Amino acid sequence: MNKKPLILGIESSCDETAASLITENEQGAPIILSNIISSQVDVHKDFGGVVPELAARSHMEKIDWIVKKAIDKSGKNIEEIDAVASTAGPGLIVCLSVGLSFGKAFAASLNKPFIAVNHLEGHALSPKINSNINYPYLLLLISGGHSQFLNVQGLGKYKRLGTTIDDALGEAFDKTAKLLGVEFPGGPQIEIMAKKGDPNKYDLPKPIFHKGGCNLSFSGLKTAILKITKDIKTEQEKFDLAASFQKTINEILYKKTKIAFSEFEKQSRPKEKIFVVAGGVAANKKIRSMLTDLCSEKNYQSIFPPIELCGDNAAMIAMVGLEKLKLKKFSKLDHPAKPRWPLDEDAAFLKGAGIQL
Ligand SMILES: Nc1ncnc2c1ncn2[C@@H]1O[C@H](COP(=O)(O)OP(=O)(O)OP(=O)(O)O)[C@@H](O)[C@H]1O
Ligand SMILES: [Mg+2]
Repeated sequence: MNKKPLILGIESSCDETAASLITENEQGAPIILSNIISSQVDVHKDFGGVVPELAARSHMEKIDWIVKKAIDKSGKNIEEIDAVASTAGPGLIVCLSVGLSFGKAFAASLNKPFIAVNHLEGHALSPKINSNINYPYLLLLISGGHSQFLNVQGLGKYKRLGTTIDDALGEAFDKTAKLLGVEFPGGPQIEIMAKKGDPNKYDLPKPIFHKGGCNLSFSGLKTAILKITKDIKTEQEKFDLAASFQKTINEILYKKTKIAFSEFEKQSRPKEKIFVVAGGVAANKKIRSMLTDLCSEKNYQSIFPPIELCGDNAAMIAMVGLEKLKLKKFSKLDHPAKPRWPLDEDAAFLKGAGIQL
């Protein structure tokens, strides 16, 4: 019996310090042996967002014991690890540097290969931990910093079909939450509040709904919500606004996903029509059920990561490490931390004022 690969994944791109060990079963399916995540919500909650210096300090304080805990929980010995994979970008450079340097040093001390991982590729491959997915597939990545439709043609081969031209969807949820007086990160709270509200109470704008292909825009919503919150007096009105916001997001995603389906089919002519949704916002149940229904309507197979693998975690980083190990795609020990690292390096920069759509 051949030894199955054992990968240590490390994540520190923003405000989660995480480490995970994954391997494969006899059939070659990935298995998570440990997945330890330490969130810094308490460190940043008084500031309404992530403070880079505090985040980096917290990563430095915790990284040793998080990795130790992941190894202990896995039931494996350090010597059994075959490769170490760390997030190298995109993210906050002071935060990335902690996990990246730790991973490089750990790999060097074990005399094992080091693998630099794109955090977004981690999100993109996160559903592969539990589902067998063939390339190509259409990916909707909706996280705190990104909102993109991508044609995933293979490991490291991405063609961007659409992107947000301003705020990311997670950012829109967090900003709405802040305006409603909910602590950062407010996305999950908006989902809870929306359950108690009337989704038809407020009519909110849908920026670039009728143009721009499957590109997205959410910043106009924030401005509309800011105006409405000035007149809000009761808790029920807050619930109604949360529900109206979530409904508007669903309407935008429904329309834009349909456009992305036809662009994906035109570009790849796939034998199987597979739609994968990943990133922190993929945890939202209303969004999941709307996209699942759309997939049945359009004969797509819908695939979501388990809720616990939607947000930042190191199992998804180890998953990319596992795929790269099989292809012997190793990184040098001078691999830089990359604050900006798009999945499709050829796609045009589409952010800021004056964009022609
Ligand atoms: N149930 C939910 N509904 C809506 N938004 C949610 C939900 N759960 C989490 N989010 C949002 O997901 C985001 C966090 O996702 P993630 O950890 O993938 O982002 P990130 O790592 O900060 O950004 P990126 O991956 O783009 O660098 C936050 O904005 C959070 O509010
Ligand atoms: Mg993320």
